[in-house]
Amino acid sequence: MFGKKRIHFDSIDSTNTYARQLIRDNRPSEGTVITADYQTAGRGRLDRRWTAQPASNLLASFVMYPQRPPDEWGGLPLLAGCAACEAIAVVSGLHPHVKWPNDVLIGTAKVCGVLVESGSLGEQGWAVTGIGINVNQLAFEGEFRLEPTSLAREAGRSFDLDTVLTTLCTSLDSLYRQWTDEGNAAVIARWKKLTRMLGRRISVMDGGESRSVTAIDIADDGALLVLTDEGLQESVRVGDVSILPEDETA
Ligand code: BTN
Repeated sequence: MFGKKRIHFDSIDSTNTYARQLIRDNRPSEGTVITADYQTAGRGRLDRRWTAQPASNLLASFVMYPQRPPDEWGGLPLLAGCAACEAIAVVSGLHPHVKWPNDVLIGTAKVCGVLVESGSLGEQGWAVTGIGINVNQLAFEGEFRLEPTSLAREAGRSFDLDTVLTTLCTSLDSLYRQWTDEGNAAVIARWKKLTRMLGRRISVMDGGESRSVTAIDIADDGALLVLTDEGLQESVRVGDVSILPEDETA
């Protein structure tokens, strides 16, 4: 179902912004995907920008009308990260892994980001799941919180963007169906298989504060469970986390 209807732009401000407007104006069918060769105002989490060179990377936003209760929608970013991670592995043969809440990394570098936005129109809840995968871009200019990479940089060859999109749609179809039928537990189990961060020391940044804790699990609602140095278990729901190198664990 994902990708059966596709709206493509050579250039647009943001595929997520367009999808949100489309939902308000036209109620497109679930699974409709908005793609673009270029975004003039691509958006990331926490009000960050998402930039990509023209016609190099996958920039896609998927329309969803989730049937699960709203308190389970925290599973959507995990679901999208898993779908992207699996699609990247299938098309490239590389070994990506997921980082809470919604990044896909190859080694320590970021290859994909997910921005889920949601709301409701009367009784109808909606979500727009935006996925940016760095596919063929070789050089990245600017300052990045996590070093960026792309499939082409890692694999040493270029990839067909439509094939990446089709593979992503197949992964999303399967995971979203499973989530609709079984809820967050199924997605969290999948996510745990695709991550390398559980059991690792991580830095949690919330506002201006940063502290080191140990990542231990994912809660039923999608929050990250951590163990503080004082032995307390806490849930992280917002902010940013980074995995500390093995030799910085003191
Ligand atoms: C992040 O890592 O902070 C999330 C990045 C999400 C980027 C994608 S690209 C397609 C869609 N349109 C946007 O403006 N953002 C998302």
